[in-house]
Amino acid sequence: MEHDLSINIDRLLGRLAELAEIGAIEGTEGCARLALTDEDKAGRDLVVTWMTDLGLEVSVDGIGNVIATMPGEGPPVMTGSHIDTVRTGGRYDGNLGVLAGLEVIETIQAAGITPARRFAVGFFTDEEGSRFAPDMLGSLVYVGGMPLEEALDISGIDGAIVGEELERIGYAGSAPLPGPSPHSFVELHIEQGPVLEIEDVTIGAVDGVQGISWTEVEVVGQSNHAGTTPMGLRKDPGFVAAACANFARELALELGDPQVATVGRIDLHPNLVNVVAATATFTVDLRNTDEATLQESEQRFAEFLEKTASAEGCTVETRTLARFEPVIFDPAVVDIVESASSNLGYSVKRMPSGAGHDAQMFARVCPTAMVFTPSVNGISHNPAEYTSPEDLEAGANVLLHTMLALANLETT
Ligand code: GLV
Ligand code: MN
Ligand code: MN
Repeated sequence: MEHDLSINIDRLLGRLAELAEIGAIEGTEGCARLALTDEDKAGRDLVVTWMTDLGLEVSVDGIGNVIATMPGEGPPVMTGSHIDTVRTGGRYDGNLGVLAGLEVIETIQAAGITPARRFAVGFFTDEEGSRFAPDMLGSLVYVGGMPLEEALDISGIDGAIVGEELERIGYAGSAPLPGPSPHSFVELHIEQGPVLEIEDVTIGAVDGVQGISWTEVEVVGQSNHAGTTPMGLRKDPGFVAAACANFARELALELGDPQVATVGRIDLHPNLVNVVAATATFTVDLRNTDEATLQESEQRFAEFLEKTASAEGCTVETRTLARFEPVIFDPAVVDIVESASSNLGYSVKRMPSGAGHDAQMFARVCPTAMVFTPSVNGISHNPAEYTSPEDLEAGANVLLHTMLALANLETT
């Protein structure tokens, strides 16, 4: 009978739409709810209301992670994700995993099912890392990967401080950190890439996450007149930044898939048409599923930066914003995702994740895997992000049956 159990897609779509109204980007389906902003607070308050309405025990810890657990004893089978977004985000990234978790719990409650282990659903602070680096900050602190004090001191792209913002929005909670390890963890997320759509597969059974390396580079040169300074006498940080962006792409192409490289932010100062810039601050995001190749890309990028800046007479300082090694998920949990999908009649493919996720932090403390659903045109971190209701339903049903199976899984 449990086999026929199915989530209510209209209820899930309703919650996704209601949450997406908060921080809605006009004229699009997307949202802007950067971590710990007023919009994030409003989104949090709404989701907490839904958690409470389901009779769940809601805890908030010192980094603002919110976890709702079914009453009872023992480590739960946990799901969850994040509700913060990038500034130009879609409505599914993260939000789907949280609201599908609520939907799973509401479904089993309505069916009168008591799983062998209780369920929990959480949303974790600042998964995106767009405002405060590193990404996955809340789940990192939850699993003991960063001391709370260090996290609270982080300053953002707008100069705000994590600890002050948590106090300001009322989400500096008192639940202990590191948090208690769940029995197991599974996160539903949109793929955010093109693979499932291209291969016409409904579900990704995610077996790992590629390594992430984020660096902020500050290049200092000599600000000068754009008309009078001969090319050979320039110390131009703008040129160094542009050359590095170009090199990052060449490097990724040379190393080949799955290496990727992105210069996503460049700030020139004073940023004027007729002034050679005084400084350039830019970021580089390097990723690979293979740690050795990721290290090679970091080293070669650093060498190019040093060489180019010094030839231009500029000085350079770098700061690591995030560095996470590739993660391999628990094969037994990936198997469960795969068989839950097949049992429900969905096509399924084992695949790595290109994006970072809270699940990769939980993999440090308990058996973990993820469920992916297709992203139309592979678009994400963009208000145009879209996944069809049929695929959302499939993903949430796989989450439901994976969690039911995990409740019976013996772990060591
Ligand atoms: C975080 O979501 C990332 O992968 O950039
Ligand atoms: Mn996400
Ligand atoms: Mn994201």
